[in-house]
Amino acid sequence: MSKAMVRYIIVVAVLALALGHVPHCLSSKTVGGGYLYPQFYDHSCPNAQEIVKNVVAKAVAKEPRMAASLLRLHFHDCFVKGCDASVLLDSSGSIISEKRSIPNRNSARGFEVIDEIKAALEKECPHTVSCADIVALAARDSTVLTGGPSWDVPLGRRDSTGASLSGSNNNIPAPNNTFQTILTKFKLKGLDIVDLVALSGSHTIGNARCTSFRQRLYNQSGNGRPDYTLDQSHASQLRANCPRSGGDQNLFFIDFVSPINFDNSYFKNLLVNKGLLNSDQVFVSMNGASRELVKKYAYNQELFFQQFAKSMIKMGNISPLTGNNGQIRNNCRKVDA
Ligand code: HEM
Repeated sequence: MSKAMVRYIIVVAVLALALGHVPHCLSSKTVGGGYLYPQFYDHSCPNAQEIVKNVVAKAVAKEPRMAASLLRLHFHDCFVKGCDASVLLDSSGSIISEKRSIPNRNSARGFEVIDEIKAALEKECPHTVSCADIVALAARDSTVLTGGPSWDVPLGRRDSTGASLSGSNNNIPAPNNTFQTILTKFKLKGLDIVDLVALSGSHTIGNARCTSFRQRLYNQSGNGRPDYTLDQSHASQLRANCPRSGGDQNLFFIDFVSPINFDNSYFKNLLVNKGLLNSDQVFVSMNGASRELVKKYAYNQELFFQQFAKSMIKMGNISPLTGNNGQIRNNCRKVDA
């Protein structure tokens, strides 16, 4: 590390102590003491980012929804033991796969695309690029390919040697969680209300199953009444394909206005009570601060894009393994012996 860098870190640390808070640049807890930076593979695998982008582009051209699925994988990875590719591990030996958890079962997807990227990278530069970094890059590329903002992805994560089914069940917010529970789950990961609202803007692309929002159509408060924070003519359209019972896996666009474009229409939908998931609509119905953020992003797409990029970097910094911790897996589904 250069002298100037050391001096900068000391100055920021002293200021932080004086002000009584820890700025984000010093707060990312990397396990292994290292830090992430975008040029990590510049010498060891100069084509890594290009290879990831090409495979993601091919997959999204074949199936536009794949962009959403890859973006969500990064979130479901980072919220469980940090961004360490634990979500990619299959069950074997002592490992119980996170793919079996409630948020992931019949829902998380994109694993074959990650496999294809990994195979291409192993050919180009064996045992170099981690699965965790592949997921982070694929999330960025998916955002860009659907029309969203770009950012330089800090790299250098290593892969876990374990998974946590309970972490996946408990840390990832559920669509029927209250606003406070969702915010608490984000805060536990070092993310704030601004990150929460901006990152939820990911729901501008992708699908949700009937089972993820049915209670809004029929039984929101357990008393058999529908949820009146949902526009009622919109609700009756949704009921057509999401019956009171059955059809659990039927798919709906989360942003019905522009389901494969990364834009700010998700926020506009919330303002007219047409959010699909209860966990999205509560930003408008339950909290003044989040409501203001929704308005801000609904009126100004550029502000949303800027914050989204910042918050994605912050999320990508959740407890990465660095240095000699963890490993670079050969196959993203299995721990190397
Ligand atoms: C704030 C709390 C959140 C909750 C409660 C939540 C919940 C959900 C649910 C229930 C689905 C539909 C799953 C299904 O029915 O199969 C979904 C889809 C999705 N989520 Fe979230 N989510 C949250 C935050 C996020 C964040 C932070 C991101 C990304 C940074 C994200 C990205 C996505 C994407 C892109 C999809 C569509 C996936 C696809 O089509 O395959 N979500 N989310």
